[in-house]
Amino acid sequence: MVAMEKIVSLCKRRGFIYPGSEIYGGLANTWDYGPLGVELKNNIKKVWWQDSVWKRPDMVGLDAAILMNPKVWQASGHIEGFTDPLVECKSCHKRFRADQLVEEFKDSAKLDEHGIFTPEELADLTKAIKKIKCPDCGGELTEPKQFNLLMETHLGPVEDAQSKVYLRGETAQGIFVDFNLVRESSRMKIPFGIAQIGKAFRNEITPGNFTFRTREFEQMEIEYFVKPGTDKKWYQYWRKERFNWYIKYGIAKKNLRLRDHKKDELAHYAVACADVEYQFPFGWSELEGIANRKDYDLKQHAKHSGQDLRYFDEETKEKYLPYVIEPSGGVDRTALAFLVDAYEEIKGGRTTTTESQKEVEVVLRLDKELAPIKVAVLPLVRNKKDLVKKAQEVYDLLKGHWLSQYDEVGSIGRRYRRQDEVGTPFCLTIDFETLKQNDVTVRDRDTMKQKRVKIGELIDYLAEKL
Ligand code: GAP
Repeated sequence: MVAMEKIVSLCKRRGFIYPGSEIYGGLANTWDYGPLGVELKNNIKKVWWQDSVWKRPDMVGLDAAILMNPKVWQASGHIEGFTDPLVECKSCHKRFRADQLVEEFKDSAKLDEHGIFTPEELADLTKAIKKIKCPDCGGELTEPKQFNLLMETHLGPVEDAQSKVYLRGETAQGIFVDFNLVRESSRMKIPFGIAQIGKAFRNEITPGNFTFRTREFEQMEIEYFVKPGTDKKWYQYWRKERFNWYIKYGIAKKNLRLRDHKKDELAHYAVACADVEYQFPFGWSELEGIANRKDYDLKQHAKHSGQDLRYFDEETKEKYLPYVIEPSGGVDRTALAFLVDAYEEIKGGRTTTTESQKEVEVVLRLDKELAPIKVAVLPLVRNKKDLVKKAQEVYDLLKGHWLSQYDEVGSIGRRYRRQDEVGTPFCLTIDFETLKQNDVTVRDRDTMKQKRVKIGELIDYLAEKL
């Protein structure tokens, strides 16, 4: 498996992901998506939206505001329960998540120094953490304190308790709050779902692992409303459906697993949850959670808002609060998993021929739908006017259909390598034959096979392949 440093370095060098605010010395754990990163992310969101909304008559979309009435977060339980246990080192003042420390020490070789945890200690963080010293300086740790992850800001010019609002900690709440509006305006009948993509914010205690855990991130969430009693069936359905989605877009099955939560792991709103996990270079980690939230949220919002959020079943004349199955994924984590999974190094090279040029070549085998640049247009040489003119004509022909790139700099082998490294599925070479035959060479990233295609047939040919 590729080392994370290689992914981070490729991402920066080729314009996928940069450190945020870099010219000012950065801002810890913030990341900017560069020209190729924004394309990758947009492509992920596009295929997710097509699969979740366009192709499903039982689903509609939503784009709710990030700032919501603070009562939303009171009702949802986030003000009370959206917390992580925080401990601080009394000597170096570094802060850690207590549950993560216990987990780390439980499985590591460091265990011997600290003694094995008893089941009683494992069930009680305050007891377990007493056995652990600061992993950085060996100092004594404080007792765990619950730390709320919601980020606060103020609406308007006066910063007082009245103007306090939160940046949403999950996109889900926008869906619950708009449940009646969406259902009525789109005449949806149960079972149906509402999908949303958008930014969420959490004041994570320990962000890290590149874009895996950040304080600002993007979610792709579905709230799927079902009749109580059918929830177990739909929960199973969405577990499978979401697992297979990652495979559909190219993640190797061996690097993906579904892990059911133990009772003590469940979030405050869920009765069952399974994570789709990916084998990152830093270990198996969550890409998406599929949760059975029952009627927790609608019930809470009905209670706190005083509105009737029940669904009226016209056939059976029953009125009930629907149960909710929630597949909730992260765009950033998904993008990272696709990058890691697509990365392949070929030792000795495959496009270079001479011994002295042989080096490690990188091919990013991204699914064609996800690849940022779809086609590169490469004139064989750049000092022949009519060749360059023809290549530019071909580029103009393609650019309205797909993100295409014109590149005339460097040897043709070097240019192929540049495109392979960012996952471009097709390279078109314009050579002297082109001028006579009006055709181009189409090179496939994965097979490296080359095929001559008439310029007049290019759009159809590529459309079929892409
Ligand atoms: N509405 C349910 C919910 O928000 P979650 O498991 O807390 O559930 C869902 O988050 C997904 O959002 C995660 O599986 C992950 O992909 C993404 N996510 C959560 N916290 C994140 C963070 N700090 N950085 C990046 N992605 C995050």
